[in-house]
Amino acid sequence: MRIGILGGGQLARMMIEETSKYGFEYVIYTEEVNSPAGKICGKEIAGKFSDTEKLVEFCDVCDIVTLENEFIDRKYIELIEQSGKVCLPGSDIVGMIQDKFIQKQTLLGMNVPVPEFAEIDSEEEIKKFAKAYGYPLILKSRTMGYDGKGNYKIEEEGDIKKAYDILGKRGKLMCEQYVNFKRELAIQIVRSSKGEVKVYPVVESIQKNHICNVVKATKNFDTAIAKGINELAVKIVNGISYSGVLAVEMFQMEDGKIYVNELAPRVHNTGHYTIEGCYTSQFENHILAILGLPLGSTEMIHINAVMINLLGERNGKSELEGYSEIIKDPSADIHFYAKDETRVGRKMGHITVTGEDMEIVFNKAQSYLSQIKF
Ligand SMILES: Nc1ncnc2c1ncn2[C@@H]1O[C@H](COP(=O)(O)OP(=O)(O)O)[C@@H](O)[C@H]1O
Ligand SMILES: [Mg+2]
Repeated sequence: MRIGILGGGQLARMMIEETSKYGFEYVIYTEEVNSPAGKICGKEIAGKFSDTEKLVEFCDVCDIVTLENEFIDRKYIELIEQSGKVCLPGSDIVGMIQDKFIQKQTLLGMNVPVPEFAEIDSEEEIKKFAKAYGYPLILKSRTMGYDGKGNYKIEEEGDIKKAYDILGKRGKLMCEQYVNFKRELAIQIVRSSKGEVKVYPVVESIQKNHICNVVKATKNFDTAIAKGINELAVKIVNGISYSGVLAVEMFQMEDGKIYVNELAPRVHNTGHYTIEGCYTSQFENHILAILGLPLGSTEMIHINAVMINLLGERNGKSELEGYSEIIKDPSADIHFYAKDETRVGRKMGHITVTGEDMEIVFNKAQSYLSQIKF
């Protein structure tokens, strides 16, 4: 079985690491030569997603195609489908999720609670939205936003012009009511191409400058809230006949109410803890799901797990040091993605610690982080 992956970053790399035990082979299509996944796969094809000749060459050597990011324009996924290969998730779903406005409309259409939102074509429309829902509000690029790039918080009318000028350059826009959430939650849900569905635990995700930084997973999560979220997630994947792992980012309000923030049609940073924390990782279940194989258990092995990202703090060559204590600790693991260059805010790796007491687990993860240089 030759599995083609669009994108060669850490998500593709971990899919390979977690499933090569089945004897599968991997072909990576990447815009960056010598990518993290390219370094460990059988074949890396480097080219722009818009290079249709190369893309067809890639399709020719794959049995099935999946992706590790949603930024490949849907027309190129359609091209893959027209070449006779199955891509999961497919162009219809990726296309819908790619545009945050259409995504929110789709969610609303399934009765999934989302913050108030509107399409924006002018500064006037932002003012109109503010009149209806008040300040602050968030102006968002409808496409190509990630790690908070593409969002602008508008505190008052005086901010509108600047926000509109800056984000307007990136393409189509939408507005969202600012949600004063208590915390951010996420869940991974996996649905196989045969329709089997399994949900991972709900996790808390803590952001640093809009980038996921810490994820806390626990078997002791509030059962009533988890039940509601599981039902939402199942409704979403069945509603769109999804195949693979889908991540759902949410806001939890003080009173327990949940709003869905966004979907990611792929494995997700908030699910990295599943490698050590759960019987079957999100990466393994994603590949099993697209192949139509039975799904592995999504249950946690340990009571608690904490994942901390190694986010670049400088620009330059990168080399990992200071991980001896993690090697010796049976409850701690490090994943370093083999990116040659570090950059401020770049996701370079992560640490996961598991154990019985959340506070101890969290403090241990923090202490390991402080020992590492990269
Ligand atoms: N409507 C909102 N209200 C409050 N905070 C928000 C809202 N939308 C986004 N955010 C904050 O910005 C972060 C990034 O926004 P998101 O829409 O998820 O974009 P990205 O695609 O960059 O992940 C979120 O994780 C959350 O912290
Ligand atoms: Mg997000």
